[in-house]
Amino acid sequence: MFKIAIANQKGGCGKTTSSINLAAGLAYEGRKVLLVDLDPQGNSTIGLGIKTENRQTVAELLCQEDCTVKDVVQDTYIEGLHILPADVSLAVADVKLAQIQAKEFALRSKLIDINYDYIIIDTSPTFGTLLTNAVLAADSIILPVALDYFNLAGMQNFMDTINRTNKKVGQLVNHRAEILGVLFTFFKVSTKHSKRIFDAINELFGDKVFNARIPENVKLKESQEAAKSIFDFAPASSSAIAYREFTKELEERLSYVRTT
Ligand SMILES: Nc1ncnc2c1ncn2[C@@H]1O[C@H](COP(=O)(O)OP(=O)(O)OP(=O)(O)O)[C@@H](O)[C@H]1O
Ligand SMILES: [Mg+2]
Repeated sequence: MFKIAIANQKGGCGKTTSSINLAAGLAYEGRKVLLVDLDPQGNSTIGLGIKTENRQTVAELLCQEDCTVKDVVQDTYIEGLHILPADVSLAVADVKLAQIQAKEFALRSKLIDINYDYIIIDTSPTFGTLLTNAVLAADSIILPVALDYFNLAGMQNFMDTINRTNKKVGQLVNHRAEILGVLFTFFKVSTKHSKRIFDAINELFGDKVFNARIPENVKLKESQEAAKSIFDFAPASSSAIAYREFTKELEERLSYVRTT
């Protein structure tokens, strides 16, 4: 079972879009996938048309000892893809969590004893207990980045946070989340500025950068409005092709990790 967090503290860089479409892409490859929405914005939940009214969500899962994945998990319209949904109540849970013992391990401890090929965790753009929970639950992290200066400027900061979390809390349970790769989103190298950012990120991350790149394409926004994955909404679009390539490349990379 691979547990992957999609994370970057930069807002709007494509975390949720990549979480939904990676999870869907893997399910369409025949994998059993659990998507965990760890963001109070609940965008992965909304983007797949999942309702949370009168249902338990990730907020209860993290804060109530007797609440289990079985109580919270919902089917999606895609076979093989299940979700632990979230909504704004997760913001309150974040505050509540701060008072709970072993708060950093709340998610990790709930994901034991479940059986999926992949767990994909969509995270929020703020540092805090929720992001720490994601890092401590995941074996690896994928960083989506858009080609602009603020994305580049935030990356070192983000890497420092991951390293600090691994060191300060992760080592208590002998856990270390590794950066599995960097995914370019909103991709277009059409200006000197974006080319410079592209080169700088390549230099920083070397072969961690995925060859697959997600082009900027309004179809992705539209697919979320329609509460569908890009593979269902616009299967022949450049973004569907790119997310399919990314899914395949990720599986290849993981099979390499598994055998080395
Ligand atoms: N490649 C793309 N081309 C065009 N629009 C995109 C692309 N990727 C994402 N978007 C759109 O950009 C917006 C931000 O994307 P998304 O929600 O995935 O980012 P995020 O990192 O999850 O944001 P947040 O930090 O708020 O959680 C959304 O409206 C989404 O539909
Ligand atoms: Mg998001």
